[in-house]
Amino acid sequence: MINEADIQKMIDDVQNSRKYRNLQLPHPFLRDLIDSETQQTQNKAKIKENFRKKLHEVIAPYLEDIDYSQESQKHIELNQSKMSEPDLKTYAKDLMRKHASTRERLTHLDAFYAEIWAHIGHVESVLDLACALDPLALPWFNNPCLKTFYAIDIHQPRLNFLDMFFQSYFPFARTLQQDFIAQPLLLQADCAFLFKEVHRMEKRKPGCTRQLIKKLKVNQIVISLPARDLRGHHSLADYHTKMVENAIQGLDFSLQQTQVGSELLYFIKKL
Ligand SMILES: C[S@@+](CC[C@H](N)C(=O)[O-])C[C@H]1O[C@@H](n2cnc3c(N)ncnc32)[C@H](O)[C@@H]1O
Repeated sequence: MINEADIQKMIDDVQNSRKYRNLQLPHPFLRDLIDSETQQTQNKAKIKENFRKKLHEVIAPYLEDIDYSQESQKHIELNQSKMSEPDLKTYAKDLMRKHASTRERLTHLDAFYAEIWAHIGHVESVLDLACALDPLALPWFNNPCLKTFYAIDIHQPRLNFLDMFFQSYFPFARTLQQDFIAQPLLLQADCAFLFKEVHRMEKRKPGCTRQLIKKLKVNQIVISLPARDLRGHHSLADYHTKMVENAIQGLDFSLQQTQVGSELLYFIKKL
């Protein structure tokens, strides 16, 4: 039988481990992963094993090769004087190339965000959920109405770096470290972006996308999902469309769909 002391020890072990200690992962995130496992079994060893496996699945595939403290120092040096727009775009692209999700978007950044505004309008406020390095694409947003932007993730060093980038070039933008599955977001906005994460969220906690959509304090949600499997062999369009349709089935939301590059885009609007 597992008790509170066992749970705390599992959390402490992760927070002190070489693999995860720099990430400063939020306690509610780790606790939620463990709680989900305790609902499946009371076997302590099995809970620990499954918890570590789930944690690895959420975090490990997206630990890009960036040393954020080094990158932050470089950012300070580069920004003694502000970069020109072309230099800023080259700098941001070089970093986005290091993360799988943004790398796949690099060839069509202008088209990607233009398509989004064409569907949802030039909104004033955006929550970028599970943002990773997507906020580095702000120089391609071309939305003159944008006044508030929140970059939300659980990876604190990445958020610290984004904070520096925002202070230098997009002072209206903010970061927030929060697991939006474990803790409902209180922020309100016109729109939420949820790019390339729903399929992974559903693996972590089936049905959690629907719960999130019901609770988010936004009028519109833009979801993106990969159009093809990792090797590019077969289409995932039907599978991913069903996933999104299931998440809003019976709720008062409309759904529109399109594709830009290798990304399926779903526009969910409160009716
Ligand atoms: C696949 S990447 C997201 C890519 C990004 N949205 C894009 O399309 O460029 C996964 C990111 O989501 C973050 N993440 C995963 N689950 C999360 C959660 N429940 N709350 C906040 N961030 C989360 C991870 O830390 C990682 O940075």
